[in-house]
Amino acid sequence: MKINNTSINKENVGEVVTLYGWVNRKRDLGGLVFIDLRDRSGIIQLVVNPESDVYELASSLKNEYVIKVTGEVVLRKEANKNLKTGEIEINIQSLEVLNKSLELPFDLNNTTALEDTRLKYRYLDLRRDELKNNLMTKHKVMQSVRSYLNSLEFMEIETPILCKSTPEGARDYLVPSRVNKGCFYALPQSPQLFKQILMVSGMERYYQIARCFRDEDLRADRQPEFTQIDMEMSFVTEDDVMKVTEGLLYHVFKEVKGIEIKLPIDRMTYDTAIDLYGSDKPDLRFENPIYDITDNFKESEFSLFNNIINEGGIINALVFNAASKYSRKDIDKLGEYVKTYGAKALAFLKYNGEFTGSIAKFVTESIGDGLAKSLNLKDNDLILIIAGDKKMVKTALGALRCKVARDLDLIDKDKYAFVWVTDFPMFEYSEEEGRYIACHHPFTLPQDINDLDDKEKALARAYDIVINGYEAGGGSLRIYNPDDQEKVLNALGFTKEEAERQFGFLLKALTYGCPPHGGLAIGLERLTMILCGTENIRDVIAFPKTTSASCLMTEAPSEVSEKQLKELHIKLSD
Ligand code: AMO
Repeated sequence: MKINNTSINKENVGEVVTLYGWVNRKRDLGGLVFIDLRDRSGIIQLVVNPESDVYELASSLKNEYVIKVTGEVVLRKEANKNLKTGEIEINIQSLEVLNKSLELPFDLNNTTALEDTRLKYRYLDLRRDELKNNLMTKHKVMQSVRSYLNSLEFMEIETPILCKSTPEGARDYLVPSRVNKGCFYALPQSPQLFKQILMVSGMERYYQIARCFRDEDLRADRQPEFTQIDMEMSFVTEDDVMKVTEGLLYHVFKEVKGIEIKLPIDRMTYDTAIDLYGSDKPDLRFENPIYDITDNFKESEFSLFNNIINEGGIINALVFNAASKYSRKDIDKLGEYVKTYGAKALAFLKYNGEFTGSIAKFVTESIGDGLAKSLNLKDNDLILIIAGDKKMVKTALGALRCKVARDLDLIDKDKYAFVWVTDFPMFEYSEEEGRYIACHHPFTLPQDINDLDDKEKALARAYDIVINGYEAGGGSLRIYNPDDQEKVLNALGFTKEEAERQFGFLLKALTYGCPPHGGLAIGLERLTMILCGTENIRDVIAFPKTTSASCLMTEAPSEVSEKQLKELHIKLSD
């Protein structure tokens, strides 16, 4: 087995070692040839003297050639503090070129290449330290998860990838069956139903580092295939699931980052998260909550606000102590930004003992005093205001809160802000489907099974773990009684036949002594992104897809042959 470059240090001076790796860089300096030899562990410097038999070969080396060298470990005259092996170098006696390389399409040491080029040549991009280190972090997370959950007697159990299509929120990836004409498997959006059924089987504590597939619109933190740290436990309450999750996160952060996170993690209800931060995944690395200033404007002469209030709308504001940093033009740009969230306009005020800004003329002395008090105003405060219906106002200000914090550099990149968001709604209205759907999934236990009629009010025993504004994981207690499951499916508009057809197997399993159970799944990539400090999920996946769900390296998805289609009984329409 080869030895790591970085395992060699000044203790080895005088020894002859054989090393393998890639030519990271070569320099000809005053007759001597210096080569930075790179392997997975890092870089070590090789030196070749003009008198050496391999001098000519060494001079002819190009970047990324794969070589084998043997030489003596010698002390450097001047140490390079930036390298782990900076105190020594290898005086080469023999050199063998194991393979050549074409000139690379981009410089590994200083890449300015577009991401598309890097994705096409992913095998080269993965040679870069940044991506290699990210994959190493992910590897450590997986090891750490396994060791922690094993210590709590969780069993790692695999579940199928070729499944039955069940409704979990996103669109399924379908796989046609050759043997069963006209029938399709679905790739699992998550192992949800299997893990519940494993509880019926008496496994008590299950986990899996599970591949999941969802055909949904992709974003910076979303891929069509991703991995969940998936858990399920029998005879538990929310507190038990949260405690296991907290222990897991503590263990992972300690092992991977050497950071001891503070437990227990704070909890916040969904309603509070929306009210104060306009999001069910609030970024708590900075404060700047949303203030409700509807009452402050109740008596105003501003007819636009009055109309909104009369129609049941609200007026909310954000405050940033940065008025002098924002010109009218800057604020207009923020106005454009909030329009993408449905806001008609962004009003603003600047405070310096008195108010200026787009709606200053409506701020009478009493309104001004009220605002100064309720917003706790200081000189140089910028107040950004949106009026309208509650959902839009909260969403738009929630997004604006994060944007302005980023613009003003208010986010401490070394900070990790954890929060549990609890008491999620049971249902949410889907504009796309024109009906209420399950906010988490249809197998989530409601807080009150007999109170499902008011879809806007019913709450679920569901919780999300949020880190730095990311939904890192989510879970719930599950329905374990078949009658209750039927009630919820009823409330979701499933007929008995439909429910039977889609997940009759689960309903049946619930009738054979199903224990109370619950669980949670953490997005492995999201957790790794947070640990690696990247905002791009592709940076933590060896072979990711683009936002149009294709792999630029293999060119998947691709057309298949007529023969393959025929075997699958598939005819393509135009
Ligand atoms: P949920 O749908 O909330 O719950 O998913 C759990 C976690 O998986 C991650 N995640 C994703 N990561 C990357 N790309 C995606 N497309 C993507 N979708 C989800 C998120 C999310 O918090 N079966 C339930 C879990 C349970 O109830 O136990 C489930 O799948 O980090």
